[in-house]
Amino acid sequence: MCPLAELHVHIEGTLSHSLIRELARRNDLPIPPAARRDGPSSFGCLDDFLRDYYANLDVLRERRDFTDLANAYLKRASQAGVVHAEIFFDPQSHTRRGVPLSTVILGLSDALEEAPDRFGMTASLIMCFLRDRGPQEACAIYDEALAFRDRFIGVGLDSSEEGFPPSWFAGVFARAKADGLHRVAHAGEESGPEYVWEALDILDVERIDHGIRSLEDLELVARLKAEGMPLTVCPLSNVALRNSPADIAQHPLPVMLGEGLMVTVNSDDPEYFGGYIDDNFAALTRAGVIDGAQCRQLARNSIRASFMPEARKAALLSGEDIRVSR
Ligand code: ADE
Ligand code: ZN
Repeated sequence: MCPLAELHVHIEGTLSHSLIRELARRNDLPIPPAARRDGPSSFGCLDDFLRDYYANLDVLRERRDFTDLANAYLKRASQAGVVHAEIFFDPQSHTRRGVPLSTVILGLSDALEEAPDRFGMTASLIMCFLRDRGPQEACAIYDEALAFRDRFIGVGLDSSEEGFPPSWFAGVFARAKADGLHRVAHAGEESGPEYVWEALDILDVERIDHGIRSLEDLELVARLKAEGMPLTVCPLSNVALRNSPADIAQHPLPVMLGEGLMVTVNSDDPEYFGGYIDDNFAALTRAGVIDGAQCRQLARNSIRASFMPEARKAALLSGEDIRVSR
């Protein structure tokens, strides 16, 4: 299997039902109602999913809870052939519940530091701002996070999309750029191409998360292609949240590849949307959406679009560095 980088996964979206139960027991808490339902969940839209996603986080309280969460993801991702992951986390979803930022960042970091030895892979953190909490709160959490500046490599923008444009976050993204941090943003998942334009022009992002609705604007497609701008696409997520047709065979990914866009495949929230990164590849392949050559292209794209040092990217692309050590 080609080495893969996963560039769009929310650590909170890797919280499994079994870990929810274990943490509820350990922290002497009730099992959140959303996690009591049996069988796969179905969601009407992004906000419908986000209600369950935020409610289930209640069981994450202690530093080791965050470590266990990250370790479970790293183990599963390494089994899927992931050699490097750039993992989103949502600090505001925890601090607003009274969990200190240090608990979140240090807990996740404990797992990431051990990842080369335990799982033969590397991983970094990208801190996301919840767009529906507005720019002031984003600035406040950014200020607080600067005490842990060496623990994350970039900032992102996620949560409820419609009505919360990227332009609101111009100030905090400019600060992140001045501080030498990478910048990514969700755009064109539910919202139209105008949010992708804003993310490019106003936030100066280096990757667009999702971006599938860019296809509606030919001028935007040309711009994304000319710049080789990576789009971190999440097919099972798009189907589960009804942002693409219910039949994955109709997913726009092959059209995006055909347009010459720098597309990667990712899992987004694998415990909610029916699978990890390898499951996304398998679903696409099974439905005849992509062939073997396109799988290899997508894997190479993921390495190129990552924020790994150029020397490691070159080694991975030439097949010299499949497994890593510290
Ligand atoms: N947070 C977790 N998953 C998300 C998604 N798919 N879109 C926006 N915010 C999210
Ligand atoms: Zn996402």
